[in-house]
Amino acid sequence: MEIDRLIEGCRVAVGGDDAEKHVRELVAEAVADRPALIAALAEPAHAGLVILHRAPDLTVLDFAWAPWMCFKPHDHRMWSVVGIYSGREDNVFWRRTATAIEAAGARSLGAGEVTTLGRDIIHSVVNPIGKLTRAIHVYGGDFFAPPTPRSEWDPETLAERPWDMEDTRRLFAEADVRARRSEQ
Ligand SMILES: [Fe+2]
Repeated sequence: MEIDRLIEGCRVAVGGDDAEKHVRELVAEAVADRPALIAALAEPAHAGLVILHRAPDLTVLDFAWAPWMCFKPHDHRMWSVVGIYSGREDNVFWRRTATAIEAAGARSLGAGEVTTLGRDIIHSVVNPIGKLTRAIHVYGGDFFAPPTPRSEWDPETLAERPWDMEDTRRLFAEADVRARRSEQ
């Protein structure tokens, strides 16, 4: 599927009923034809995220997780749909306790697989393989300006703290450097 068609389809979907369901179908269709998606999206020079579309009601991101990268628990405050088109993304799902969070489940997503995350889901992500994992993430809102402030949790103590986008960029950059070093 062409990226423009995916984005246009998502734009129409978020304006109608059952937006998550329709977006999921579109993402599933896109990641079903992985060669087309890989050809349409530039090979990333670095781990990180590329904004394909950003609006108040819809964000479409192209994620590249560095090899072996672990990403801290966080929530989104909006629904999202994740579709993997290269590699693997292991998700741990967390639930709140009186003082922190505890692991509640896990799901490993491989190329061609899609999942929907509800607006209050807390998850952390691991790329369990030694190459980039690439995924389309669609959010039912502006990912960079959530309607209520997003949280993240310290990966060691599991203490809640405000989401820190700069720390997120730093984590991707560090993971990228580590992966390049291990290649040498
Ligand atoms: Fe997330």
